[in-house]
Amino acid sequence: MSNLVSVETSDGVRTIRWNRPEKKNALLREMYDAAAEAIESGETEKSVRVFVLGGQPGLFTAGNDLVDFMEAPPHIGSGDMPPVERFMRALMTAKKPVIAEVDGLAIGIGTTLLMHCDLSYASENAAFKTPFADLALAPEFASSLLFPTRLGRAAASDLLMLGTVWDGERAKQAGLVTDVFPSASLSDEVRKRALALAAKSPGAVRMAKELMMTPDEPLSDRMAREGSIFAEMLQSPEFSEAVTAFMERRAPDFSKFG
Ligand code: COA
Repeated sequence: MSNLVSVETSDGVRTIRWNRPEKKNALLREMYDAAAEAIESGETEKSVRVFVLGGQPGLFTAGNDLVDFMEAPPHIGSGDMPPVERFMRALMTAKKPVIAEVDGLAIGIGTTLLMHCDLSYASENAAFKTPFADLALAPEFASSLLFPTRLGRAAASDLLMLGTVWDGERAKQAGLVTDVFPSASLSDEVRKRALALAAKSPGAVRMAKELMMTPDEPLSDRMAREGSIFAEMLQSPEFSEAVTAFMERRAPDFSKFG
């Protein structure tokens, strides 16, 4: 395990933090591997309900380490999976929710990865930038598809072609992040939401995520799909606990469900 990534699990929340502040949290292969391992193992651990991905105060990440890039260019989609791809695939395929906490710089992959998180929170001094055109590089990890689809073509071009720096408010307005908080309270606000998510029915949270990630289909097909899942979930022990708790006027306890 790399000491350049910290991993802590408490109260159902696994928090993964880039920890290389002297290099602005530029990401090395060992850091991608450590973060991938934390997600992959957390996916199978019942004690982990939610992932939080963050950095240090005032610093999310300056993106891929450029020296590492030159020394070991990843060959995406061929041969052994490079650590960066392992990490991004772990993020993209995680069935449990992932929350990004962005304070300060989020350059390159630091912005790209938000497309693969479920919720993203930024501080007022966050700075999002994808300088691929300045670096003579292409967009990465499906951002050429996801940015235009989710943010609109004009906003996507502002990021992916012009490399404009967006602050937290601009990112929120475009839908790149969920909400913006002052730097001093960002971690607490994220933690509050992570704990709230960790206390919910894990099956229901997982299903909401799975359905949102299911590829487009005709509306009537989606209604039918949701309908049969809904009916099935009405029979689940988790629903039974939710209703019993309502009748007993107490908070539901989903801790025994995985
Ligand atoms: N890869 C490798 N090293 C990086 C890095 C990166 N992506 N980003 C920062 N660093 C290193 C710097 O080389 C410097 O190392 P040094 O102290 O040994 O000289 C250290 O981190 C501090 O960076 P510095 O540039 O002095 O800080 P700054 O506050 O003036 O600027 C940035 C910070 C992030 C704006 C600037 O470093 C930068 O533009 N980095 C490159 C970002 C980038 O292009 N990322 C890749 C996207 S694909």
